[in-house]
Amino acid sequence: MTDPTPVADSGDRADPTVEAVFDAVAATAPEIRAALPGRRVESGTGNPSGERVMAGDLYADELLAEAITAVDGVGSFVSEEREAAVDAGGAVGEGAYAVAIDPLDGSSNLRSNNAMGTVVGVYDAPLPATGRDLVAAGYVLYGPITTMVVADASGVREEVVERETAGDDGGVSRSVVEDDLRLPPDPLVYGFGGRVPDWPDDFTAYAREIEDELKLRYGGAMVGDVNQVLTYGGIFAYPALVGTPEGKLRLSFEANPIAYIVERAGGAATDGEIDILDVKPEGVHDRVPLYVGNEELVERLQAALA
Ligand code: AHG
Ligand code: MN
Ligand code: MN
Repeated sequence: MTDPTPVADSGDRADPTVEAVFDAVAATAPEIRAALPGRRVESGTGNPSGERVMAGDLYADELLAEAITAVDGVGSFVSEEREAAVDAGGAVGEGAYAVAIDPLDGSSNLRSNNAMGTVVGVYDAPLPATGRDLVAAGYVLYGPITTMVVADASGVREEVVERETAGDDGGVSRSVVEDDLRLPPDPLVYGFGGRVPDWPDDFTAYAREIEDELKLRYGGAMVGDVNQVLTYGGIFAYPALVGTPEGKLRLSFEANPIAYIVERAGGAATDGEIDILDVKPEGVHDRVPLYVGNEELVERLQAALA
């Protein structure tokens, strides 16, 4: 493959390694997007979570692995699509970071041509670790526009990611469109995953209340659904299900980065009992129920499940 596409200067940011990671993710995004039309089919392989992998998942994973392991200060690359971490050189926790990636979130939406994303967690500890070890997190949303939301200690910002010129060999620009993203105080939308008959009774009762208050917005890709919550206010959940109390989403690659972003934006995230960021994983591919959004809605949910 060619060298990662150069990225225009994104200004002064606190942590150069974190910035370089998001430069690498942004540089890869247009290439991933451009490669999707021919990769809407199953690859014929499975991933460590036991799910069927699309050709697009594998392609995104390869590009991101190459770009992120090339970043100085990244010691380890860990992916939803890989059993083992890729050693990138530095010692994680001793100056180098572990970067956890969901290369394509919501890739079943490839077939129906709906939104998808890439999720990024930058951890200052070898994985498995808790979300308290995140130093930054973000996601790319492949919607009508390619956007990237980045959260670090200083807050949350939304950027538009674009190729500077048509074709494959131009640079990629990151333009900040919202430099202090906050959850709106008056929530409007909700989106809950899983089949309703599989919802536990206490969650169903909570959902019935929420239906009276908010508007349903569910697209089947966590990144797209959470982006609606960040934009309009509300709550997203992939709940614990009867028979699968661990839910569907993975802590290291999905729940922790999203919890980090939403909490930095003024919201809350829980597994039903405790803050997602305090959940202690046994393995890198562990799943966890996720309920995330405006604090008041998440607190009510927690009370409903207690
Ligand atoms: P992934 O494509 O990375 O496996 O993640 C899919 C996840 C998440 O994006 C979404 O919220 C959830 O699966 C949707 O699940 P259903 O298709 O079962 O609704
Ligand atoms: Mn996912
Ligand atoms: Mn995925």
